[in-house]
Amino acid sequence: MKLPISDRLLACAGFVNPGDRVADVGCDHGYLSIHLLQVGVAESAICSDVKQQPLQCAVRNAKKYGLQDKMEFYLSDGVEKIPRDFDTLVCAGMGADTMVSILAAAPWLQDKKYRLILQCQSKTPLLRKYLSDNGYAITKETVLKDGRFLYTVMEVVFDPAANRLTPAQCYLPAILSGEEADAYRQWVIGGLRIATQHQDDPEKETILQELEACL
Ligand SMILES: C[S@@+](CC[C@H](N)C(=O)[O-])C[C@H]1O[C@@H](n2cnc3c(N)ncnc32)[C@H](O)[C@@H]1O
Repeated sequence: MKLPISDRLLACAGFVNPGDRVADVGCDHGYLSIHLLQVGVAESAICSDVKQQPLQCAVRNAKKYGLQDKMEFYLSDGVEKIPRDFDTLVCAGMGADTMVSILAAAPWLQDKKYRLILQCQSKTPLLRKYLSDNGYAITKETVLKDGRFLYTVMEVVFDPAANRLTPAQCYLPAILSGEEADAYRQWVIGGLRIATQHQDDPEKETILQELEACL
């Protein structure tokens, strides 16, 4: 029985390399890992969640789809209690504050052997800034639409020699790709226009001017 998954999770799955051992942090229902194993892209999946209820849901789904032998389950805040023998960490459907706290608590992820696939739900510029300030490089970032919403999925590696992002690039990195990239640029700039109309924020005004000049 094939699992139907959202376009958002499909986009995350598209970043996983064949044969990857995946760590699906904040797995909730476990759909991403189940999909990756069903289509034969991932070799194995470590599924973790900070809450018991979603983790048990992932355990039930793994059994339902007959994939429990290829999946491991950990009740864990971020990566605190998961094994470190994976290739690609996927963290999807969380806001930047949560993602930053997960990454900040795990300096061992600052290692070229890991690839991070991050799909951030809110305050994405804050996540990009954290990554850039801490030696991570965004090597790919794709925009997609799922329902009414635009999302980005990014591939991140540890590369302290990479150029740091400017404040404007934290809002709109040059690397953005995908058919919806222009719509995303307009959405980000629109959000900055509204924010600067409602509050006196010289930093955001400078960023807005810089981004508008590139339109
Ligand atoms: C909105 S769901 C997203 C589920 C799935 N990754 C997706 O994208 O569809 C967010 C999940 O992350 C979990 N979560 C939130 N903070 C977490 C943390 N610090 N460590 C691990 N899991 C966390 C929540 O319990 C929830 O199950």
